[in-house]
Amino acid sequence: MIYMKKTGNMNKFYYYSFPMQAALVTVQTKNNKTNVITVAWHTTISKKPPLYGISIAPGRYSHKLIEESKEFVINFSSFDILDKIHFCGTHSGRNTDKIKETGLSLENCKKIDAKYIMECFAHLECKLYDKINIGDHTFFVGEVVNTIIDEEAFPDGMLDNKKVKPCYYVGDKVYTTISEEKRGF
Ligand SMILES: Cc1cc2nc3c(=O)[nH]c(=O)nc-3n(C[C@H](O)[C@H](O)[C@H](O)COP(=O)(O)O)c2cc1C
Repeated sequence: MIYMKKTGNMNKFYYYSFPMQAALVTVQTKNNKTNVITVAWHTTISKKPPLYGISIAPGRYSHKLIEESKEFVINFSSFDILDKIHFCGTHSGRNTDKIKETGLSLENCKKIDAKYIMECFAHLECKLYDKINIGDHTFFVGEVVNTIIDEEAFPDGMLDNKKVKPCYYVGDKVYTTISEEKRGF
């Protein structure tokens, strides 16, 4: 198929890479509470060492918490908890206890002091490896020191998208998930 073209919107150029998984990132506060932020700007960076990056605006409460604790967890979330995902992306932990308000359940990580969210299906435990102040965001690079996954979500190592429906962010207040169609070669 050939797509007919027009000039895109520079203000929302990043929308053209969407949908991206709406991941929940958990970070500990100094008082040993957990804050959650929703992120769509995140990516794998390296296999050896295993590195994962998240782009966080300096104004976010989570930005300060990651700088302080130097640890965070990427929690991959499914579409069935969309209300909670949207809530964590539209409220700040500065004035809201998002764990209490959403009712999300926490569990201790294995290799870091942060906690992961039980309602999510895969988790990357990250220690801060590098921090790059770039443009209007900070790119926090995490070394993945442990992974935790749902027992049934990844038979053969790959996501079974009949069992788990990841939550994807399309832009503005719109989210989607993937269909059961899968093609292999
Ligand atoms: C779907 C979605 C994706 C988001 N992605 C990011 C992101 O990648 N980086 C970022 O800094 N903020 C992102 N945000 C905004 C933060 O989640 C939001 O400002 C949040 O309230 C910050 O919480 P905090 O102050 O507790 O850290 C996103 C919001 C939504 C709804």
